[in-house]
Amino acid sequence: MEQTQSEKKKVVLSLVQPSGVPTLGNYLGAFKNWAGMAKDYDCLFGVADLHAITVRQVPAELRAHTLEVFALLLALGLDPQRETIFVQSQVPEHAQLAWILNCYTQFGEASRMTQFKEKSQSHADNVNVGLFTYPALMAADILLYQADFVPVGEDQKQHLELTRNIAERMNGVYENLFTMPEPFIGKAGARVMSLTEPEKKMSKSDPNQKSFVSLLDTPDVIAKKIKSAVTDSEARVYFSAEKPGVSNLMGIYSCCTGRSYDEIEAEFAGKGYGDFKAAVAEAVVEELRPVQERYKKHLADKAYLLECAAKGAEQASRRASKTLGKAMKKIGFLQL
Ligand code: TRP
Repeated sequence: MEQTQSEKKKVVLSLVQPSGVPTLGNYLGAFKNWAGMAKDYDCLFGVADLHAITVRQVPAELRAHTLEVFALLLALGLDPQRETIFVQSQVPEHAQLAWILNCYTQFGEASRMTQFKEKSQSHADNVNVGLFTYPALMAADILLYQADFVPVGEDQKQHLELTRNIAERMNGVYENLFTMPEPFIGKAGARVMSLTEPEKKMSKSDPNQKSFVSLLDTPDVIAKKIKSAVTDSEARVYFSAEKPGVSNLMGIYSCCTGRSYDEIEAEFAGKGYGDFKAAVAEAVVEELRPVQERYKKHLADKAYLLECAAKGAEQASRRASKTLGKAMKKIGFLQL
């Protein structure tokens, strides 16, 4: 989308939870595109550490994971001079607006959230109220910045839909309060499937380590995992619903090299899966190499990370406080 200078760029916002290292699937499906988006959009990215405490956290680990995800955002090629990159807990407006939104969210609609139902089963010993109001906090993240677009995975679509319902409801009462956010449909981002069960999405929470490539896997580990990926007995490289394993590897290869499926098919005509997998592994290693190098560099420089986080929090807070102030005024809170 071309933008003239006088036109205001649309706002894109997304947050990542500090829970475990993201996978190649997260990367190819979303993160890979983020660094290029600043050209066309006004971008904000954050670490959702407030969301993380809906599950019990070890303090030192939460701190470490927060910095790791922050370093990873920088490693994607995001630039704190260009994008606003922040840690959610350091921008108090998130928690403040979340409380307000809680009061405009119906018990019934929050109860219908699939993620809440799933998590209250998987964490039956700690079904806290935060888990229940999680989507109101997510709505606050989005609405505070008047975001136009939110890149979200399939699993978060329902939360975005709830955000829209809350925004619509509040705009009905208090005119022009929030921008109506929409899911961001990026350019054909890959939907990367599990390497061992290619009918399932690749997931970092899969107990089978071989089913996913983590963004920080070493070249050796990446090669091993790709080599052991499930294929089929036909030994011919082409894209087909009947060949989910091979098609998944083709998708990964295509994303990393920019080659089309036709080109890939031609490249491996007459060759077996051994050659194909070696090429896919090589492409993935090369794709992740610069990200991993930047990640290591940033993570080794904690002072720089903290400096960026402080700057990001300040920028984010400046913007967020405008929306919060507007909401508080419209609702009828005392103006000092
Ligand atoms: N709930 C999202 C997830 O688990 C993370 C998130 C929090 C988020 N706030 C957000 C994503 C706002 C997009 C926009 O993946």
